[in-house]
Amino acid sequence: MPTALIILAAGQGTRMNSDLPKVLHEVAGAPLLAHAMQAGWALAPERVVVVAGHGADAVDAAAREHDPEAVVVQQEEQLGTAHAVAQARAALEGFAGDAVVLYGDTPFIRPETLEAMAEARRTHDVVVLGFEAADPGRYGRLVTEGEALVRIVEFKDASDAERAIRLCNSGVVAADCDTLFSLIAAVGNDNAAGEYYLPDIVEIARARGLSAGVVRCAEAETLGVNTRAELVAAEATFQARARAAALEDGVTLVAPETVHFAHDTVIGRDAVVEQNVVFGPGVTVETGARIRAFSHLEGCHVSRGAVVGPYARLRPGAELAEDVHVGNFVEIKNAVLDEGVKANHLSYIGDAHIGEASNIGAGTITCNYDGVFKHHTEIGARAFIGSNTMLVAPVRVGDGAMTASGSVITQDVPDGALALARARQEVKPGLARRFFEKLRAAKARQQQKEAE
Ligand code: UD1
Ligand code: CA
Repeated sequence: MPTALIILAAGQGTRMNSDLPKVLHEVAGAPLLAHAMQAGWALAPERVVVVAGHGADAVDAAAREHDPEAVVVQQEEQLGTAHAVAQARAALEGFAGDAVVLYGDTPFIRPETLEAMAEARRTHDVVVLGFEAADPGRYGRLVTEGEALVRIVEFKDASDAERAIRLCNSGVVAADCDTLFSLIAAVGNDNAAGEYYLPDIVEIARARGLSAGVVRCAEAETLGVNTRAELVAAEATFQARARAAALEDGVTLVAPETVHFAHDTVIGRDAVVEQNVVFGPGVTVETGARIRAFSHLEGCHVSRGAVVGPYARLRPGAELAEDVHVGNFVEIKNAVLDEGVKANHLSYIGDAHIGEASNIGAGTITCNYDGVFKHHTEIGARAFIGSNTMLVAPVRVGDGAMTASGSVITQDVPDGALALARARQEVKPGLARRFFEKLRAAKARQQQKEAE
């Protein structure tokens, strides 16, 4: 069944106390909206429509970064969830299939849950996702008769008997797209909030002789983010799941509770991740690699057998081939390190390519930025870059070439050549001794004066 996702993201999010639209606050390095869209991917949607309000341009950009084909429509005034869904109508004109409504601030709906809803659609015209709440609070309540869903009542409008129901509305709904819009068109706003309630479609559907059913999920899946504190709780939930999944996948985590994953981190089996490692978005680590303590990785790839850290920083575009070693206080950005390269101490390598088995001495820096442009550094295979070499890009050091420690390399170094680019050393016999004698004598005179 072709499926369209309608993601409601027009909330002001006033309780976040933020200039940023609520759905753009991040969990695991991705906006809440992207998590909701990702959850919906389980249904392989043909269309994705995001209903935005406050900060629509920024929401539009974030939605299309996640899915370039997503359509963002604007709900100018927030008149209720049914009114929000109605804004998606024009964007879904002519679409034949199911529509599933998700919330942009609800990041954790599992694929299995959405699949169960699709399955339940075989027997019901409208399927609502419900959950048994530990504390039902102000959630809408699902009024059922046996397996059938009779109606949904908002807390504000509920009787005491209805408020005693523990089965709550998550807000997620699935129905045939045309049916959904036809039901929504019949929703009124004669209720305690004066809003157009999406849940009212259940009662309207039943009155038309259609059937409604409930799929249940764990309360944790429907966790919505309304405050900074809830955002923190969502992050903790995400991290707990990601750590458990990594262990399940055969990754060694020495101290899982100290490792921070991004939404898209991929780590191979038998890779080792030591304490206090942070993964930003876009990291892949192959099997058998080792990420040592206190390293920070983002937008990079680490191949089999490579060792990173402790205290290393891999920034976007860092590509480490097999058996590369990157050690303490080394920063790598937009650079490809071929097999077996070693950069073990205190270096910055940016906008560069380093050929296989080359050794980068401590303190080496690619001077890639002239204040306006970025320039490339090319280092051949089996080169030896002496400690504290400044490579002023654009520059090339050839295969098997060597730079002397402390050199400032401004010109290309041919294959096999040695480049020395530092002042020649002079030695003055006895000068240090005479110099110190002079200083000590001066100090003694000063102390004598102070005593007088
Ligand atoms: C809604 C449900 C309630 C359910 C609860 C689950 C309604 C009327 N009630 O209540 O049954 O238990 O979610 O969390 O649907 N939104 C828009 N435009 C609007 C109004 C809302 O885009 O005009 C979006 C919000 O940004 C939010 C979502 O829809 O993402 C839910 O709206 P909200 O006002 O939070 O509904 P609740 O009162 O929580
Ligand atoms: Ca809500």
